[in-house]
Amino acid sequence: MVIAEAGLALRAGELVAFPTETVYGLGADAFNERAVRRVFEVKGRPPDNPVIVHVASVDEVLAVARPDPAGRWESLARRFWPGPLTLVLPGRPEVPAATTAGLDTVAVRMPRHEVALALIRAAGRPVAAPSANRSGRPSPSRAEHVLQDLGGLIGWVLDGGPCEVGVESTVLDLTADVPLVLRPGGLTLEALREALGQVALSAGPGGPPRSPGLKYRHYAPQAPTVMLVGSPRAVAACIGRCLRERAGSGRRLGLLITEETLQMLVATGEPLDGAEVFCSGSRRRVESVASRLFEGLRQLDAGAPELILAEGVDEADLGLAINNRLQKAAGGRVWRCAEPP
Ligand code: TXA
Ligand code: MG
Repeated sequence: MVIAEAGLALRAGELVAFPTETVYGLGADAFNERAVRRVFEVKGRPPDNPVIVHVASVDEVLAVARPDPAGRWESLARRFWPGPLTLVLPGRPEVPAATTAGLDTVAVRMPRHEVALALIRAAGRPVAAPSANRSGRPSPSRAEHVLQDLGGLIGWVLDGGPCEVGVESTVLDLTADVPLVLRPGGLTLEALREALGQVALSAGPGGPPRSPGLKYRHYAPQAPTVMLVGSPRAVAACIGRCLRERAGSGRRLGLLITEETLQMLVATGEPLDGAEVFCSGSRRRVESVASRLFEGLRQLDAGAPELILAEGVDEADLGLAINNRLQKAAGGRVWRCAEPP
C-alpha cells in the first residue's frame, strides 16, 4: 500500500510527486506552510506564483475556498470534475499565504486520475501541487521527467504512467463578473462556453498578468526554440529551407512536427539527416499532439540541437492550449510560414 504510505508522508510534511490526467504534480499538504515553501524551493519557483489546491471531492472545496459571488462553481465542478478544470474562488483565511502567494483567492481542482485521488484521500487533506518540473522547464508528462528535474531533491515519485491529456488544466477565474480563462488548458474554451455562455479569454502578454504565473518564461527547452505556424505544406517548405541552409554544416535541427507535415517532407524528398524528428501526432486529432507535446520538447532538447522548430496547430479545442504552450516555449518567437507557390 504505497499510496497509503505516501499519504502519511504528505501528512508528515514531506513532498510527493504524483500523476494526474494533465501532468505530474509536486504535492504538499496545502495547510502546511513549511511544506509548501519547500515545494517552491525545490522547483526554483518565484514565491509570488500561487499553486493549485487539489481535492478529492466537490465538497472538499469549501475547506479552502468560499463560493463565488454568482454561485457558478458548484455546477461547473459537478459537470467537469474530476477533470482538467481549475476554479479560482475567494479563499479561506486558513489557507497559508505560501499556497496562495498572499492573494485573497484560491485555485482548486479535482484531478481525474485514480492515483491522485487515492493519494489525496490517504492524506486526508487538500494537496497543494504545481507541475513537478523545475520552474521554467517543460512540464512533466511522465514519471521519468520528474526524476530528470527533481530526482535527488524529493523522497517520493508515484509512477502512474504517461499522462492522458498532456497539457495542464484550464484555469478559470470565477471572481470576475464574466468568468475569465487565465490559462487555456485541458478543458476546452468551447466546452466552457457551452456550459456558461459568456467566457472571456485573458489577453496574455501586454496587460497586467491576472494569473501571476503568466508573466514568467515557461515550458522552455534549453535550445533556442521557434514556433512555426501555417499549413503542413507551408511548414514543410519552411523546414526544408532551414535544412538546406544548414546542409553539411553539422548544425542540427530538432523538429517537433505533425504526421501531416512529416508526410509532406517525405513526399518532397527533403533529406532529414540534419535533423532529429519527433512526431507530435495528427492535426486531425489534436489530443494526440497535446499528450506528446512536453515529451517531444524534452526529448529534442536532450539532443542539444542548434534550434528547435515546433509546429503549431489550428486553435480549436485543445489547439488553443497547445499553441499557448509552444508560444511560451519559444519565448514568443513565431514564424508564420508562407504557402509555397
Ligand atoms: O493541470 C494542472 O493544473 C497541473 C496539475 C499538477 O494539476 N498543475 C499546474 O500547476 O499546472 P502550476 O503551478 O504549474 O500552474 C498553476 C497556475 C499558475 O499559472 C498560477 O499562477 C495559477 O495557476 N494560479 C494558482 N493560484 C491562482 C490564483 N489564486 N489566482 C490566479 N491564478 C492562480
Ligand atoms: Mg507549471
